[in-house]
Amino acid sequence: MKVIGISGSLRKGSFNTLALRAAQKLAPAGMEVSVAEIAQIPLYNDDVRAAGEPAAVSALKAQIRAADALLIVTPEYNFSIPGVLKNTLDWLSRPPEPPLDGKVVGLMGASPGQVGTARVQYHLRQVMVFMNAFVVNKPEVFINHCAGKFNEQGELSDEATAKVIVELLGSMQKLMTRVG
Ligand SMILES: Cc1cc2nc3c(=O)[nH]c(=O)nc-3n(C[C@H](O)[C@H](O)[C@H](O)COP(=O)(O)O)c2cc1C
Repeated sequence: MKVIGISGSLRKGSFNTLALRAAQKLAPAGMEVSVAEIAQIPLYNDDVRAAGEPAAVSALKAQIRAADALLIVTPEYNFSIPGVLKNTLDWLSRPPEPPLDGKVVGLMGASPGQVGTARVQYHLRQVMVFMNAFVVNKPEVFINHCAGKFNEQGELSDEATAKVIVELLGSMQKLMTRVG
């Protein structure tokens, strides 16, 4: 099973990108998690789309179509979805061939705050209803107080967080089997 992962942060030292890398390492047997970049996705403009989908958007759509599931690992900005991620999702929602229709989606997020991206994940769940994606319900992966959960090498050092990431990937595997 192939999972494509997206980080909602473009920052070099991003905790969310580190969490995505941790998920790559924690992937169970039979699952491969690869990473797609969203830095090159242009600002959404329907005139641009109508004139011909940008290459970066087509490439990302193709990567998602080729995968069995999408793993979104994102920070929370102002209690909601970071603009770069929402912009990407807006492109993915448009024709031709929106790739999230019927796709399994897993959500994770890291934040220095107390609730560890709970609010953005519920906003993402709402967006995914329109996309007609199948979002894994449980477990929820809220990596709070994130600075203390990665070591100096940027590796996930918190066992409880590793455990819940493994559980999420397992739930994605199960849902992929059921959704087909
Ligand atoms: C514009 C902006 C808004 C933010 N809003 C929130 C927020 O609503 N909730 C939260 O927990 N953290 C918030 N933060 C702090 C981020 O969680 C923190 O910068 C985090 O490290 C970003 O993720 P990253 O390390 O993957 O880049 C915000 C940061 C920025 C830059």
